[in-house]
Amino acid sequence: MSRFALPTLQTERLTLVPFTEKHARDVDRFEALWEVARYTTGIPHPYPPGDAFLYAHEVALERHNGAGGLAFAVSPRAEKRVVGMIELDLADDGRSAELGYAYAPDVWGRGFAVEAALAIIAWAFDRAGLDALVASAHVDNHASCRVLQKAGFRRVGNSTTYMHERGKTGTFEDYRLMRREWQS
Ligand SMILES: CC(C)(COP(=O)(O)OP(=O)(O)OC[C@H]1O[C@@H](n2cnc3c(N)ncnc32)[C@H](O)[C@@H]1OP(=O)(O)O)[C@@H](O)C(=O)NCCC(=O)NCCS
Repeated sequence: MSRFALPTLQTERLTLVPFTEKHARDVDRFEALWEVARYTTGIPHPYPPGDAFLYAHEVALERHNGAGGLAFAVSPRAEKRVVGMIELDLADDGRSAELGYAYAPDVWGRGFAVEAALAIIAWAFDRAGLDALVASAHVDNHASCRVLQKAGFRRVGNSTTYMHERGKTGTFEDYRLMRREWQS
């Protein structure tokens, strides 16, 4: 079995399941909101209906090719509704990945983003054998910067990034977490 075979992950309050097309409708609903897209580089706005469905097919293809597709749909344990997405974009070397996530605004502020991040980090280092995770958040995206800090990421600097779905550049805080730091 591939080391990237995706399990279902359970946390105290959340279930993370491998993202598929059956989760796309819920994800479309929150990714279409400006407050969700605003600080991201890759969520389009206006949002083309069905974008998450296309993404589900992309990750399915990546999984089939053993090239990643490391995306999870996040639901509260007692509910079927998908309230968030969390993913690891695997680097070409297969040893590191970039963490990304987005949640429905009605669940913001409940600690779900940190809880899910801690679960996927543990899976990435313990089970998938990755050596390093990176992440970036727009400097004005205070909630996301806080999520990364609370999940154990270390700030390594700032960068100017072209936000392709915003059509402009933005300043991002860059974060890193090495497996050996996480273990200590
Ligand atoms: C970023 C995002 C995932 C945070 O989700 P969340 O569910 O609110 O996160 P949590 O509840 O786990 O909160 C994490 C921390 O951020 C803090 N926080 C939340 N909103 C904040 C704000 N506007 N300013 C400062 N801190 C904030 C919380 O207080 C919490 O810290 P604390 O526990 O020390 O109080 C959510 O806002 C989101 O989906 N945004 C849209 C998509 C996005 O920007 N994704 C990230 C791209 S890099």
